[in-house]
Amino acid sequence: MRIPEFEVETWMTNHETHCLYNLTETCVSSLSLHDLQQLTQENITKNIMEMTLDYGPITGSHRLKNAILSLYESGDDDNLTITSGAINGNELVMMTILEPGDHVISLYPTYQQMYDFPKSLGCDVSLIYLDEKKGWLPSLEDFKKAITSHTKMICLNSPNNPTGTTIPFSLMKEIIELAKAHDCYILCDEIYRGVNTKTRQLSPSFSDHYEKAIITQSLSKVFSFAGLRLGWIKGPKHIIDLINYRRDYHIISSGPFNDYIGSLVLENKDKILERSLSICQQTKEELKKWIEQEPHISCVIPEEGTVCFLKYDMAIPSKELCERLQNETGIFFVPGSTFGIENHLRFGFTHVDDVKKGLPLFSKWLRQFDK
Ligand SMILES: Cc1ncc(COP(=O)(O)O)c(C=O)c1O
Repeated sequence: MRIPEFEVETWMTNHETHCLYNLTETCVSSLSLHDLQQLTQENITKNIMEMTLDYGPITGSHRLKNAILSLYESGDDDNLTITSGAINGNELVMMTILEPGDHVISLYPTYQQMYDFPKSLGCDVSLIYLDEKKGWLPSLEDFKKAITSHTKMICLNSPNNPTGTTIPFSLMKEIIELAKAHDCYILCDEIYRGVNTKTRQLSPSFSDHYEKAIITQSLSKVFSFAGLRLGWIKGPKHIIDLINYRRDYHIISSGPFNDYIGSLVLENKDKILERSLSICQQTKEELKKWIEQEPHISCVIPEEGTVCFLKYDMAIPSKELCERLQNETGIFFVPGSTFGIENHLRFGFTHVDDVKKGLPLFSKWLRQFDK
């Protein structure tokens, strides 16, 4: 099975550890076990030290699944399985359902896994190109044009990485009607769901509105615990059963430690999401003020998610810009070209101090491009 390099992940690996100002991070400032202990008032240290590290509940404990279900309107334990992050969730869904020759629809730009992974399985992938002038949102017409009688799955990421845009509920319902008419699955990676700075509420999940929708999510982004590598898949029971057969070949379980800490994180989700909202709100305000006075940059700023996609007007390739900027100032961005889109940089709403110090420094650096 041949697969192209996962460009954004390679860039992150090679650049994230030696920056001074991380303006591109997708995970809201990560938390420690000490932070969690303070938040929960639970004696985590004692509980961990006494824990027997067997495989634990194979597809996730009832406690963990119960905590996950509090994020949704529907479902029970049978509709969930636990994964090693959303990245493993996405691959398990696709490997379970898709076969060579199946037709798949995906967005562009989006997380590369959503189109290059099904391609590597031998699927025929049609891309819907998102237009910045339309707020990076697809239309129902785009889906109607792309869908065929062979379409097996529509792969979405909402809120989207790198644009941050969320599929509005009205469009979600229309896409679902179209999928129903063609009897196809919808896979939506909802890893950025949970920090809507406008409504301050959870947005609708595809999994609550369509019997053939499968969603993935994890503790990495809005819950600030990427290091746990804990994610989940929610979907119809018969699909979750099939995924579990395959899952045994990939991860067996995610272990009692992750299961316990993950349960605690989600049982305290209100406090954690409140913190994440506050961080994203502050950085969003900083970015808005900064863009108003920065002639080279524009952006469609999303209401939800932890990222957005900055557009710049200088004639310099995004990889070159990022390399030079990081070498000269310590400011770290992911170049748009890693998502296939030039003249853009992915911005993260996730680190308040870095944003407050990094944006003015970035402005100074940009002055060399003034005419
Ligand atoms: C859209 C999307 N899905 C999945 C992942 C991987 O997340 P996880 O840490 O849950 O595996 C990322 C990470 O950047 C992402 O942006």
